[in-house]
Amino acid sequence: MKVISTAVLLASLLLAYASGQNAKYVIGMSQCNLGEPWRVQMNADIKKAAAEHPGLTVIFKDAQNDTLKQRAHIEEFVSAKVNLLIVSPKEAAPLTAPVADAYRKGIPVIVLDRSVLGSEYSTFIGADNKKIGRAAGQWAAAKFPKGAKVVELKGLMTSTPGQDRHSGFLDGIQGTGLQIIFDADMKWLEPNARKEMESALAVHKKIDLVYAHNDPGAHGAYLAAKAVGREKEMLFIGIDALAQEGQVYVQQGILAASFEYPTGGREAIETALRIFKGETVPKNITLRSRVFTPENIKKGGEWLDPSGKR
Ligand code: FRU
Repeated sequence: MKVISTAVLLASLLLAYASGQNAKYVIGMSQCNLGEPWRVQMNADIKKAAAEHPGLTVIFKDAQNDTLKQRAHIEEFVSAKVNLLIVSPKEAAPLTAPVADAYRKGIPVIVLDRSVLGSEYSTFIGADNKKIGRAAGQWAAAKFPKGAKVVELKGLMTSTPGQDRHSGFLDGIQGTGLQIIFDADMKWLEPNARKEMESALAVHKKIDLVYAHNDPGAHGAYLAAKAVGREKEMLFIGIDALAQEGQVYVQQGILAASFEYPTGGREAIETALRIFKGETVPKNITLRSRVFTPENIKKGGEWLDPSGKR
């Protein structure tokens, strides 16, 4: 009896070892900044998902929106020989080399939300920004069938979501009467968006819609319009739809729509675990998005692709 139970114990330990249950892994997480609620949420999602696996330790570094600092952080993680890297890069081009270098040295790299150039990383996880931009454009065109004058407040245009949210929106409004009368790069930051919107308001007597690449940008624009008593003349739409931010703005009637941009934090940890188990993971993991409007917010928004899987 004793012999059998010892054998069973040994077998289960071996099994646990083989399946990675008892293994200890250190993940380095390079976050480009923690200035916005969305990134704080991303780190929280990673932390929560990792906490469900006692063998995982995640070390977070915040580059405070400084590309050089983020490069240094990635290099530090490589020197420390972490088992895997998660990188949410500030901008594509300057972070490409350090990511590729880590990958070439055999460290699996999950690129999260904003991408780098080329394909020298293990996998990219993020929602489809082009599709989100297109959906925003189509939503706007349906809302203003007779045409509209649009202000576009762009995210950092050296980052991939900014580029894709812009080109997607242009696709969505193509052939409609919507016209972009003012655009500026607010670099994802609410104070910049507010300033740019002040300029737009000073120059344009008629604005129908503000399309901001994120909810902080849309909120900054709203505050600028409110300060001069013009917020009711136009609609504001944004992207992110965090439960504690964009969705609240929609409920308060500040935003006419917010398009969800999931943080991917949980999926990054799930993917890391698959890599540790030796599984091959897809090169691109695309997350789904919903749109939240005053009409659908009570029922949890609406999927952009209702038929798709998660
Ligand atoms: C936060 C943020 C989000 C946006 C994402 C794009 O830094 O600006 O608001 O959706 O980054 O990468």
